Amino acid sequence: MILACSPRPGGNSDTAARLFARAAGQRLGLAAPLPVTLLRSFRIAPCLACSACAQPDPSSALGLACPQSREDDSIPLLQALAQAPCLCLISPIFFYHLPSPLKALLDRTQPFWLRPRERALPPPRLCRIILIAGRTRGKSLFAGSLLSLRYALDPLNVRLAEPLLLRGLEEPGALASSPEASLAVSAYGQEAAGDGL
Ligand SMILES: Cc1cc2nc3c(=O)[nH]c(=O)nc-3n(C[C@H](O)[C@H](O)[C@H](O)COP(=O)(O)O)c2cc1C
Repeated sequence: MILACSPRPGGNSDTAARLFARAAGQRLGLAAPLPVTLLRSFRIAPCLACSACAQPDPSSALGLACPQSREDDSIPLLQALAQAPCLCLISPIFFYHLPSPLKALLDRTQPFWLRPRERALPPPRLCRIILIAGRTRGKSLFAGSLLSLRYALDPLNVRLAEPLLLRGLEEPGALASSPEASLAVSAYGQEAAGDGL
């Protein structure tokens, strides 16, 4: 799953997702780019910290109860995080962190933290990460986002690959008009496909 996580249609994350999908598809010898999923087309309700997900619920899609998953579109995304053989998340930085829809999705992985220890883990997988920031400077620009991603994905048996961190891309067309940044994204997609994604 390639998940583009910006609320802004046609922005830099969308461009990066397209470049990554095309490069990875080409490297895999596919006729078409890999599909891209847009997070903004899903409604993701916040975690209520109600602990309902601590209770097993065989009737729910994930085997764990969550009242919010009856109200929103989170289940297919959580299932993909749990089962997709390989992942790539692409997101802008908003106030030194991830935009709220992606943070909400990460918070909703709480059932996996609370899952009973005897339940089998999903298979080990790698997640590619592309983060895009407007600022050109800032030592800790990506630090909070990377920590949240690492700890939210850990109970899903997902490890973060070396991330691609892009700075100085503010306007929606900034990535498309930067040959250097575009090449870096395509190379990252090719490398991911070369490693079996
Ligand atoms: C609400 C908001 C907060 C932002 N906060 C930051 C920030 O803390 N640091 C930064 O470098 N850029 C920040 N930006 C700029 C975006 O990261 C930048 O415009 C990025 O290219 C957006 O990606 P997109 O086109 O995929 O939406 C912010 C933008 C918005 C709209």
